[in-house]
Amino acid sequence: MRSTKLGFYAAMVLVGCAIAASRYYEVDEPVWRLLTGGRKIDPATLHLKGEFVESNLGTALEPDGSVTVRLVAEQYFFVPQCVMVPAGVPVRLRITSADAVHKLLIEGTDDSAKVVPGAVTEARFQFAQPGEYQVPCKEFCGAGHYAMRSEWMVVDRNQFPNLRPEERGNCAPR
Ligand code: CUA
Repeated sequence: MRSTKLGFYAAMVLVGCAIAASRYYEVDEPVWRLLTGGRKIDPATLHLKGEFVESNLGTALEPDGSVTVRLVAEQYFFVPQCVMVPAGVPVRLRITSADAVHKLLIEGTDDSAKVVPGAVTEARFQFAQPGEYQVPCKEFCGAGHYAMRSEWMVVDRNQFPNLRPEERGNCAPR
């Protein structure tokens, strides 16, 4: 009798572990970093100083040919609203939130990044082909959540360096 009970508890623990192990990406890096105190960033001063000032947002071309995309997620948009990246080149995304928890998803791919205020999320993507991607927010973040989306334009890698920096950085019409 006792061994059945023990077996039952052991099974429960195992199931619990299995769920935790398969959902580990939900307890993700930014939350972990927030808890452990690494790489903190103050949401209140994002627009005033540091990496996420507006002039530094968008796509930056690195000396090795890779690109870095810097974004701010806030209720209820991504800044900038439209991002241009080259195909066939590693893309490093660095993103933080000015307010709530958001989650950027590149539609039609498995690529996503959860964003937590107070931390920087880093993710790496690569696009095989030029194309246009809708990039909605997939974490319920308030009344405007369902309208929160941006657009990523993936262009030919040879064409990309010829674009003016302001075109590459933010392709939203203005
Ligand atoms: Cu941001 Cu939902």
